[in-house]
Amino acid sequence: MLHPFRPEQLSPELKPSTSDVQSVLLSAEQIQKRVAELGAQISQDYEGKDPVLVGVLVGASVFTADLLRCITVPCSLDYVAISSYGKKSRSSGVVRIVKDLDESVESRHVLIIEDIVDTGLTLNYLLDIMRNRNVASVRVCALLDKPSRRMTSVNVDYIGYEVPDEFVVGYGLDFAQRYRNLPYVGILRPEVYGGK
Ligand code: IMP
Repeated sequence: MLHPFRPEQLSPELKPSTSDVQSVLLSAEQIQKRVAELGAQISQDYEGKDPVLVGVLVGASVFTADLLRCITVPCSLDYVAISSYGKKSRSSGVVRIVKDLDESVESRHVLIIEDIVDTGLTLNYLLDIMRNRNVASVRVCALLDKPSRRMTSVNVDYIGYEVPDEFVVGYGLDFAQRYRNLPYVGILRPEVYGGK
């Protein structure tokens, strides 16, 4: 298993391009390097298994697209959409499927691609759904992990980076549908989301 880098070990001297972001946690270059490492590890682990990557919309769309291109074994791609935070910054614990998979995953090796695991509630819900579909296996790859906020125990097989208990945006992650287009992951100013 890969060990996540800790952002505090990194020192990006980068200026955020929006004043709503208080600091850059992970630069675009750091993310790309780590995504390539994850892709190499996944390719090795899934040799001969023809996995189906299940990207969780919308937050993981950018990560999924980049990771997909770093996977060198035959695989397929599907997406699932679940109810999001809306304008709130914290999980309500209420999760529902808004868009289901297009193809059956029965007897397939499923790799769920998440943007961030926070309380773990969303992931646990998705894992239950996948296991009920008689998959051959199900694993999880998350770009970011915020273990300090976990409310339920959940195993994340591949982790890009561990992040502190801050609300982060960029590289697909949003607050109220904004900031997904930032090429880096940054910490959102608490005044913006009314937190802390
Ligand atoms: P969980 O159910 O609390 O683990 O929440 C998972 C989902 O909440 C993620 O897939 C994100 O969409 C969202 N989320 C959690 N923390 C953050 C954050 O810091 N920034 C943006 N979205 C977040």
